[in-house]
Amino acid sequence: MHTDTSKKVYFHTFGCQMNVYDTGKMRAQLAADGFVETEAPEEADLVLLNTCSIREKAVDKMLSNLGEHRRRKREGQKVTIGIAGCVAQERGEELMARFPDVDLVFGPDGVPVVSDLVAAAMKGERVIDTDFLDLDNYPFVDQVDPSVHGVSSFVTIQKGCDNKCTFCIVPSTRGVEVSRPAEAIVQETRDLVERGVKDIVLIGQNVNSYGLKQSGCPTFAQLLYLVADVPGVERIRYTTSHPRDMGDDVVQAYRDLPQLTSHLHLPVQSGSNKILRRMKRYYTREHFLEVVAKLKDARPDLVLTTDIIVGFADESEEDFEQTMTLLDEVGFVGSFSFKYSPRPGTPALKMAWSVPAEVASERLTRYQTRQRELSLAWHRSLEGQQVDILIEGPSRHDEGVICGRTSTHVMVNVPGDLALVGQTVRAKVTRGFTHSTRGELV
Ligand code: SAH
Ligand code: SF4
Ligand code: F3S
Repeated sequence: MHTDTSKKVYFHTFGCQMNVYDTGKMRAQLAADGFVETEAPEEADLVLLNTCSIREKAVDKMLSNLGEHRRRKREGQKVTIGIAGCVAQERGEELMARFPDVDLVFGPDGVPVVSDLVAAAMKGERVIDTDFLDLDNYPFVDQVDPSVHGVSSFVTIQKGCDNKCTFCIVPSTRGVEVSRPAEAIVQETRDLVERGVKDIVLIGQNVNSYGLKQSGCPTFAQLLYLVADVPGVERIRYTTSHPRDMGDDVVQAYRDLPQLTSHLHLPVQSGSNKILRRMKRYYTREHFLEVVAKLKDARPDLVLTTDIIVGFADESEEDFEQTMTLLDEVGFVGSFSFKYSPRPGTPALKMAWSVPAEVASERLTRYQTRQRELSLAWHRSLEGQQVDILIEGPSRHDEGVICGRTSTHVMVNVPGDLALVGQTVRAKVTRGFTHSTRGELV
């Protein structure tokens, strides 16, 4: 479908890697329809907000951003406003009723049909589409995001999530888990490598369960080998994996595949078995530690990052201490840590609570303080060492400085020439900070 004049589209993406990737897929389809992307919302004919509902704060942020677009529309801008993503899926009807100047609302399953939805909305219809698509032959979008020109890119391997972690809204916003055919994943990897991508990040909500429901589909471990076989793929990462489903075959891949990086993001959520049970994560602290030990045995320089929720259910001081000791025991080099945020429709809403907000805040501060110390110590331990870094681009802060990452995902800023982008070079780390390091090329 092609519009007759070139229209401008403005995207604002909230939330996780899935949303970033989905926005790329919408960008690809709308570009084929003749849309040109703009960075200036006041110039746009179409504003698309790709939204996240993982925590209440994410929703608040989106609503305040939406307010600005609605204000410009009231003040005379001729613009079609669309809300996509997880909030749209969860609260579609409510958004339509509450905001008469919103023209279009669709969930993550609207991404493959965005051209039709946008065309209808731009003709003046008010469009809402929060139906989940047919699971057989789920139409994963194969066109590559035209804005990809860096060294890293996401590639989706599955949609949805079949787990029911009691705190989490994702199963209701993204629906049932479906694995993308391996041939399509390999083909997209090839297309991306052709555009200069060297670092492939496989994404899904629970990548370890890839392929298990579909007969004839490779397993996640097998998929890793297939992607590693694509010439030009220098690094493979993946997110998110679930500790319960981390199998020995994936552990073995860390022995076999040098392309797999030495950094793994493995969300543990809590160090207390009681809380893990309340969360329905279906693993124990002991199991988690066993998985970590196996991984480190297979790949001795592996470092881990994690996700933590504090103040969940009846988390006691003792339970929280278990999370603190786990942080030290594993030596996570980084964490995404948040206070529990009650989400509509989730099983946890029916549980008994005993953690006052200020207690949760205090615990979060304690956790984050300790995590920063560990991150800093990790980066300082690299001072004086030589490392191989894949150069990603210019430093955001300093002119004449470029940045690259080690296989352990450490950011190293070095004085150097942009011509090195995409190359792997040797650097010596001279100084470690909390979030990055500084170094020089050798
Ligand atoms: N599928 C991934 C997580 C996706 S959501 C996994 O299972 O690990 C990303 C992170 O958001 C989660 O790991 C969790 O730490 C956090 N999160 C999810 N729901 C939350 C809630 N209700 N309150 C606070 N944090 C939440
Ligand atoms: Fe949410 Fe759990 Fe699924 Fe992750 S695995 S998306 S936390 S339900
Ligand atoms: Fe947010 Fe949806 Fe991702 S709720 S974290 S955008 S799956």
